[in-house]
Amino acid sequence: MEWMPILLECARNVGRNIAPLIRNANKPGLSFGIGAGGDPMRQVDLAAERAVVDTLLAHEISFTLISEESGIMRYGDKPEESYVVVDPIDGTTNLTRGIPFYATSIAVSTKPEMQFVHAALVSDLFHNVTYTAERGCGAHRDGRRIYPSTEDSLDEVVIGVDLNTYKVREIAPRITGLLAKAKHIRHLGANSLELCYVADGTTDAFIDIRGKLRVTDTAAAWLIVNEAGAKITTPTGGPLNARLDPRERVTFVAAGNERLHKIILDHIKA
Ligand code: IPD
Ligand code: CA
Repeated sequence: MEWMPILLECARNVGRNIAPLIRNANKPGLSFGIGAGGDPMRQVDLAAERAVVDTLLAHEISFTLISEESGIMRYGDKPEESYVVVDPIDGTTNLTRGIPFYATSIAVSTKPEMQFVHAALVSDLFHNVTYTAERGCGAHRDGRRIYPSTEDSLDEVVIGVDLNTYKVREIAPRITGLLAKAKHIRHLGANSLELCYVADGTTDAFIDIRGKLRVTDTAAAWLIVNEAGAKITTPTGGPLNARLDPRERVTFVAAGNERLHKIILDHIKA
């Protein structure tokens, strides 16, 4: 099956479904309960998820949905044929606060494990910029092939670091050596999109060692980073893999090239 046109249609429909909700997304309203990923769900998250599911159903696709909101749901008569991993809105806090950095993330896998993801899309919904990858075919931004950065000097790098956790006192000391040496540190608030920034060389690296990030935020960008030619591993340098389940958590170091990746690993206390 040709997945990419369908994933692109999903992203367009997400944009359309959430447009009328964005202005009031931060107003207190009805409670929608807690999603499968453990965070409160908002109307905008559910509208985005609905857009993805309805698009796939309109194409009569059988699939197992693995979503941050609804969890694991089976559709059609052969749901084990495809596993569709969705973070309907990555960066919901940004969206509700009017910070222009949030995305929809969709990955397709043949098995419920990240290493089998073969098609991926992360769409920046504010700027209408879409990152895609298919296994063995490279990664693209709006249809143009992308490549990561070749920068390997900590004196020049822009590195994203997610330290957004109540456990910051335990986690931060493992990377203070890196923070002390790296020239520019950022955290933008939608990790799927921050990983795509490594894929296209906008930034040089992105690390998340909190043990808090879900596979729903990571699965699509994992393929995009790999297909772009950047490197993403666990913080100890092992292959990054995880069960595709909204309760599963990942940690990683992603860098534009092997040299910078190694330098970062050498500065992290595993
Ligand atoms: C969040 C973003 C954020 C990261 C959080 C994630 P969400 O995704 O990726 O950057 O720090 O851990 O939960 O909740 O907006 O889908
Ligand atoms: Ca989300």
